[in-house]
Amino acid sequence: MHKSDIPKTYRVKSFGCQMNVYDGERMAELLEAKGITPAPEGEAADLVVLNTCHIREKATEKVYSDIGRLVKSGAEAGKEPMIAVAGCVAQAEGEEIMKRAPAVGMVVGPQAYHRLPAMLDRAVKGERSTDTDMPEDAKFAALPRRRKVAPTAFLTVQEGCDKFCTYCVVPYTRGAEISRPFKELVDEAARLVDAGAREITLLGQNVNAWSGENDLGHAVGLDGLIRSLAALPGLQRIRYTTSHPNDMSDGLIAAHGEVEKLMPYLHLPVQSGSDRVLKAMNRSHTAGSYLKLLDRFRKVRPDIALSGDFIVGFPGETEAEFEDTLRLVEQVRYAHAFSFKYSPRPGTPAAGMNHQVAKEVMDDRLQRLQAALGRDQLAFNEASVGKTCEVLVERKGKLPGQWLGKSPWLQSVFFEGDAEIGDTVRVELAQAGPNSLKGRVLERVAA
Ligand code: 5AD
Ligand code: SF4
Repeated sequence: MHKSDIPKTYRVKSFGCQMNVYDGERMAELLEAKGITPAPEGEAADLVVLNTCHIREKATEKVYSDIGRLVKSGAEAGKEPMIAVAGCVAQAEGEEIMKRAPAVGMVVGPQAYHRLPAMLDRAVKGERSTDTDMPEDAKFAALPRRRKVAPTAFLTVQEGCDKFCTYCVVPYTRGAEISRPFKELVDEAARLVDAGAREITLLGQNVNAWSGENDLGHAVGLDGLIRSLAALPGLQRIRYTTSHPNDMSDGLIAAHGEVEKLMPYLHLPVQSGSDRVLKAMNRSHTAGSYLKLLDRFRKVRPDIALSGDFIVGFPGETEAEFEDTLRLVEQVRYAHAFSFKYSPRPGTPAAGMNHQVAKEVMDDRLQRLQAALGRDQLAFNEASVGKTCEVLVERKGKLPGQWLGKSPWLQSVFFEGDAEIGDTVRVELAQAGPNSLKGRVLERVAA
């Protein structure tokens, strides 16, 4: 790598989960604090941060081809960009990236990106560096304050995972479970609201495992944090994701019936409806215990929208076991869900298991599962027609005078009328499609 000028413009490209989106925003703020500005849309940036995801499918190969593309288009333009690789592929691959991709100047893991500015100083002098340390806590304290944010903001409250599901790479790339301190989170949430946030989504790989001590010194769980955040004036909506069935507390379930700002939505991955497969996945819950848990949420919040994650074709999954998953879907009737083909992750126990399922079988199962989930999603949206609800306006729609926002159940709702981004409008849901609803404005509630 050559010495180069201090970059003037940057672009952060985030892949994968919402936590990566949050991390990407924070890296952008670190760069802006150094006077580097976002590259205008369509223009090449002096510095590109690839904020990578390692959870499924040829993640690593994709990073190398992205790097190749950047180098090629840089060479054509007569100026190669400075490249940083961040995120979970950076954590998993580390030095290997440095060896294979000489164009990369910085490799930084998800727990070390607060050190990006110092790495950048070195890169300008022509020194390449890798940082995949996992220092507890240090990162958040070192990040700059946020200035202006969208009406919907993410707040990472918990990171890492100790569950070691046998297919999953997260415990290796994101490290052990840690909870950020209560006060730090309440302060950051207050600043987000000051900067324009109306809805905050609390993020964590196991967000419902969050624990801390409140301002009175009492031990509290996620429900305690949610109740404290609900007291922030100006904050209208609270959501959280992603939860693990085994960390669900009575308090959090109760909060869904009591805290008005907590939205009626629950993302609770189940992965499979077969108890044998769940055991092989090391999920430590059964289909039955999962269904019972959902019943408790529905009891306190009958209209709650349920969401989940599924994996088809886990090693050894039989047709009958896959049908158990379809049966579970039929029982739950999800409002929304994510479903994936099993993808062996290097270093995870499942990658070495016998009886890997053939690709065609996985394709077929995924198609059948997605057909069932799609039907249920449409049915959920259709059942919403005729209801009135509040929509938090997030952006302009495609047509002139059209706006787009989310219902309390996280459905996309578009409507025509007088509004601004960040407004809350009361609408009647008039028409349903598989991925969105059309609303008719009744009144503007808050701006
Ligand atoms: N293969 C396929 N899907 C996976 N997920 C996690 N690891 C894998 C894998 N190796 C899915 C799970 C998880 C979601 C974030 O990604 O469903 O809940
Ligand atoms: Fe991965 Fe399981 Fe942890 Fe979720 S709970 S991050 S699937 S190991």
